[in-house]
Amino acid sequence: MSMPRTTSASQIPDLASSFRNAMRRLAATVSVVTCVDGDGWHGMTATAITSVSIDPPAILVCVNTAAAFYRRLSLSKNFCVNLLGSPHVQVSQGFGGQLRGAERFASGNWTLTRELPCLIDAQANLFCKTETQTHFGTHGIFIGSVEEARFSAVAAPLVYQDGHYVTTSPLVVA
Ligand SMILES: Cc1cc2nc3c(=O)[nH]c(=O)nc-3n(C[C@H](O)[C@H](O)[C@H](O)COP(=O)(O)O)c2cc1C
Repeated sequence: MSMPRTTSASQIPDLASSFRNAMRRLAATVSVVTCVDGDGWHGMTATAITSVSIDPPAILVCVNTAAAFYRRLSLSKNFCVNLLGSPHVQVSQGFGGQLRGAERFASGNWTLTRELPCLIDAQANLFCKTETQTHFGTHGIFIGSVEEARFSAVAAPLVYQDGHYVTTSPLVVA
């Protein structure tokens, strides 16, 4: 019996391009995901993060399997998701590829909390235990149960939308 086949966007050039353009409309808070292994601190900028469950509290993170961070996170039992604020554009750029390895932590105010690199003035810090990991297509999918959640007094998130950094402001709703 033949298996059902999934159509890959790369097999349909128009779909690959329209999918990318559609995703540019998906405004998302920028985070830096961090973990630690024997040879030090690791981190990567990510927007593909969402909450999965309230009870137990859990989130998921999608990481391209081509990223060096993918292997680090695969080997790690814990990770921290640091939600960036509007002053953190440089942090996002550094962890998004402008800086390499541990150099990335020179940008931003980092400390070790619960044995994980934690951005002190982040919008929120979610300390997670890796519960399960799988992959689909280009990305690894990591689900973590949240063991502690910290958040700032004021919400001023760093948002990535249509290839640009923006922040939010409330709409007047009648
Ligand atoms: C705003 C922004 C959002 C990103 N979101 C993701 C994401 O959700 N998942 C992902 O795998 N890469 C994402 N990236 C790309 C990685 O941060 C980038 O490829 C990084 O250099 C990977 O680092 P590494 O190869 O050292 O692990 C994003 C980059 C930026 C600037």
